[in-house]
Amino acid sequence: MPGQVKRLLIFVVIICVLFVVSRVLLVPEGFGKYGHYRATAIDTIIALPINYAGHIVCNDCHDDIAETKDASYHQGVNCESCHGPSNDHVQSLEEDEIILPSAPRDRNQCSICHAYSPAKATGFPQIDVVTHNPVKPCISCHDPHAPDPPSVIGGCIACHRGITRTKALSAHSNIECNECHTTQDEHMVNPRAFRPDKPRSRDLCGKCHAKGATSETFTKKVDMTEHGVGYLCWQCHFPHHPEAN
Ligand code: HEC
Ligand code: HEC
Ligand code: HEC
Ligand code: HEC
Ligand code: HEC
Ligand code: HEC
Ligand code: HEC
Ligand code: HEC
Repeated sequence: MPGQVKRLLIFVVIICVLFVVSRVLLVPEGFGKYGHYRATAIDTIIALPINYAGHIVCNDCHDDIAETKDASYHQGVNCESCHGPSNDHVQSLEEDEIILPSAPRDRNQCSICHAYSPAKATGFPQIDVVTHNPVKPCISCHDPHAPDPPSVIGGCIACHRGITRTKALSAHSNIECNECHTTQDEHMVNPRAFRPDKPRSRDLCGKCHAKGATSETFTKKVDMTEHGVGYLCWQCHFPHHPEAN
């Protein structure tokens, strides 16, 4: 017999012996009882602690919330997807000390599902977390159990978003648009045919800023007979974001 065949035979014999030995010594207890499955695995799994209670049990006590949620956009989102595993809460209700599940009140929890990602289905409501009403928690505007989108913004901001946002951050933030413009109702539905007036004279600004003018809020006064004479005030100051430097 050639040497290389001998060595190959020895190798094959070793593998066969190892296989037989491992079948006898290493097969776990209960294997084969239910087919290709370790029967004792069931006991191992039963011994694991239960973390989730399932949403059906929540409905027993929190039926008002469950009812609201099931009629809302979040009908497919389980209680425990937001409140976390709550079995210890349910069990604790029969004991003295009640364990309360956490309520995710910050922006992070909502963002897990709603942060924009190009990989998500197009129809799924997504937002850019950085620019979508930053700082405030989501629940200050959206009810987590009935997250209808808040009513569509009305008023001037619907069409004059830039001006409204600019004014909101300026010294003039508390001044209504119609303090300086007169807007007909028709402008809101047919804006190009009905145009609000734009201020034409310095007196408009003088209403609040002229020396001696009485106004409800404290305002900085200027001497109208000297300050910027010959020019309209808004040739130097942005009316929607006045700056004085
Ligand atoms: C046997 C009745 C019962 C069941 C079942 C039950 N809860 Fe509660 N839950 C309570 C009670 C009672 C409170 C305390 C109410 C309070 O303090 O005003 C509570 C409070 C809560 C709170 C408030 C926490 C907070 O910070 O105020 C949350 C959230 C909550 N449960 C979620 C759940 C979830 C999720 C489930 C299902 C896994 C569930 N509960 C199942 C009775 C129940
Ligand atoms: C989308 C996430 C989300 C889901 C789903 C959700 N919750 Fe909540 N839940 C919250 C948040 C956030 C708060 C805190 C609200 C607040 O502080 O105004 C809260 C508050 C609560 C509270 C205490 C305040 C209250 O309104 O009485 C209870 C009880 C509660 N949830 C139970 C439930 C139950 C039961 C379910 C399932 C039927 C559920 N929640 C589903 C996010 C969720
Ligand atoms: C586990 C994933 C999940 C989490 C967490 C979650 N949502 Fe949702 N949200 C959904 C699903 C699913 C819908 C329904 C989408 C649909 O109808 O196509 C939805 C719908 C919404 C809508 C309705 C959007 C529309 O177009 O009308 C708003 C608003 C919303 N969620 C806000 C929130 C807020 C606020 C939180 C945090 C308290 C939150 N969601 C947490 C999954 C989630
Ligand atoms: C200051 C109020 C405010 C806050 C805070 C806020 N939202 Fe909104 N959200 C709105 C308004 C108003 C709309 C509807 C108009 C729009 O799309 O801009 C909206 C729309 C949505 C929509 C629907 C978008 C779509 O395309 O259908 C989702 C989802 C949503 N918000 C989730 C969130 C989440 C998540 C947070 C926290 C990270 C959050 N919102 C914080 C006011 C708010
Ligand atoms: C439905 C959309 C819409 C709404 C709502 C709306 N506007 Fe307008 N507005 C327009 C359009 C369009 C123009 C014309 C822009 C252009 O042609 O350059 C305009 C023009 C104006 C002008 C300039 C007029 C001019 O002659 O240049 C003023 C001032 C104005 N709007 C004020 C307001 C105020 C104040 C409100 C709220 C009370 C308001 N608008 C609400 C759409 C709207
Ligand atoms: C302090 C007075 C004042 C307030 C408050 C004010 N405006 Fe004006 N606005 C003006 C003046 C002055 C002009 C004219 C600027 C010009 O002719 O160059 C003007 C011009 C405009 C124009 C025309 C812009 C253009 O480029 O021709 C629009 C649109 C407008 N304002 C909308 C608004 C809206 C919407 C609000 C409320 C969010 C508002 N304004 C609040 C004083 C004001
Ligand atoms: C209804 C009253 C009112 C009218 C009309 C008004 N303002 Fe003001 N203005 C204020 C108030 C309130 C402030 C806030 C700062 C203060 O208390 O002086 C202010 C601040 C200012 C400032 C100072 C900003 C700073 O950084 O300190 C300037 C400049 C200014 N307005 C210009 C104008 C011009 C130009 C007009 C005309 C287009 C005008 N204002 C119309 C009430 C008014
Ligand atoms: C030729 C440009 C020019 C014109 C026109 C002009 N301003 Fe000014 N305004 C300035 C400058 C520059 C400052 C800042 C330096 C200063 O306080 O004199 C200022 C400052 C102000 C301040 C702040 C004063 C303070 O105490 O801080 C107010 C309010 C103001 N202007 C209102 C008006 C009003 C109202 C009109 C129209 C009647 C007007 N301005 C016209 C250039 C102008």
